[in-house]
Amino acid sequence: MNKSYSPGLEGVVAGETAISTVGKKGKGLTYRGYSINDLAAQATFEEVAHLLIHGRLPAREDLLLFSNRLMALRDLPAGLKAVLEQLPGSAHPMDVLRTGCSALGAIEPEGAGADQYRTAERLLASFPSMLLYWYHYAHDGRRITIDSGEESLAGHFLALLHGKAPEELHRRAVDASLILYAEHEFNASTFSARVTASTLSDFHSAVTSAIGTLRGPLHGGANEEAMRLISSFASPDEAERELLAMLARKEKIMGFGHRVYKKMDPRSPIIQKWSLRLSEAAGAMQLYEVSERIEKVMQREKGLFPNLDFYSASAYHLCGIPTTMFTPVFVCARIAGWSAHIIEQRAANRLFRPIADYTGPEPRDYVPVGERG
Ligand code: COA
Repeated sequence: MNKSYSPGLEGVVAGETAISTVGKKGKGLTYRGYSINDLAAQATFEEVAHLLIHGRLPAREDLLLFSNRLMALRDLPAGLKAVLEQLPGSAHPMDVLRTGCSALGAIEPEGAGADQYRTAERLLASFPSMLLYWYHYAHDGRRITIDSGEESLAGHFLALLHGKAPEELHRRAVDASLILYAEHEFNASTFSARVTASTLSDFHSAVTSAIGTLRGPLHGGANEEAMRLISSFASPDEAERELLAMLARKEKIMGFGHRVYKKMDPRSPIIQKWSLRLSEAAGAMQLYEVSERIEKVMQREKGLFPNLDFYSASAYHLCGIPTTMFTPVFVCARIAGWSAHIIEQRAANRLFRPIADYTGPEPRDYVPVGERG
């Protein structure tokens, strides 16, 4: 066995990046040098998306131009709407986004001389449109107009979802959550986007790979699973009882633990505060109190801490977002980080092609089909 083999590539440096640091000593979580705490408290998601995709925080004028470009790129081509109308209401919204991204790549392919920054902005602007165009058509046959009148992506998403202007608190909570979800170094979906980009494939293929990778419950899908868990308990005491039984059965509790962070996820206290604020504003504390108890039990029993997905669940629920849309909202944010990584990969490309330790049979003779026992 090769000594350098690390299951799941744990601890393996698989490339260089100037986009973010995750859990690095003395740095923590930063996007292009800015701390996540500062960005989540003071920036808007549009500023952060500009920072990630274009490499710098925008001046006021640049931000205005960027936001205007995004608003102008929200509408969907007729061909994509026709594809979305074919997808059943029973489809998982992640499958809708994966299909929508792939279809857009066929309708508006990256051609010779295509501007990859425009492709990134097009996907960033149009994911909420794809998701909610499909959602309303599949569930009540309505072909919505994409124009929400909302400037921010957070407001646009909520307005398209609910068919009315969102409450300011909800708009701000979703905006902060998009910032937290926007980027996270060489996580599985970003790595998968970079692997696809490294073959010199197109932008949409790289993002489609990433969406498929994000979908699983060990990655982005954890926020949906966390919601199913916390909403299944009527009280903190019941949560504690059931959780102990789950741990005794060696079940994994989604929304806890992390491959890189070993003591805490710096994004978790930020989204937890939003969850508390939203719970207090709604006068509905049950999900929050159940979540807090689960956090205590996980710490006490397993030494495990909540990751970003855990308190995102109650926060999104309190903003009226359906559970199956939690991971798609993650896509709407992470497209900023994926785009930055695809652009970075292309700028200094080398094909990803690792090797494997072989564990199969020794070389043996082929036996013709008629002579096999
Ligand atoms: N619930 C219960 N036990 C957990 C756990 C969780 N969420 N996360 C890790 N553990 C335990 C494992 O069972 C394992 O215990 P063991 O050594 O007794 O078998 C140990 O901690 C190491 O876990 P492992 O899955 O090998 O670590 P990893 O580095 O591969 O895991 C995750 C990282 C994120 C995949 C893992 O923590 C997990 O599955 N979490 C839940 C899914 C999730 O929230 N994903 C979103 C990540 S942001």
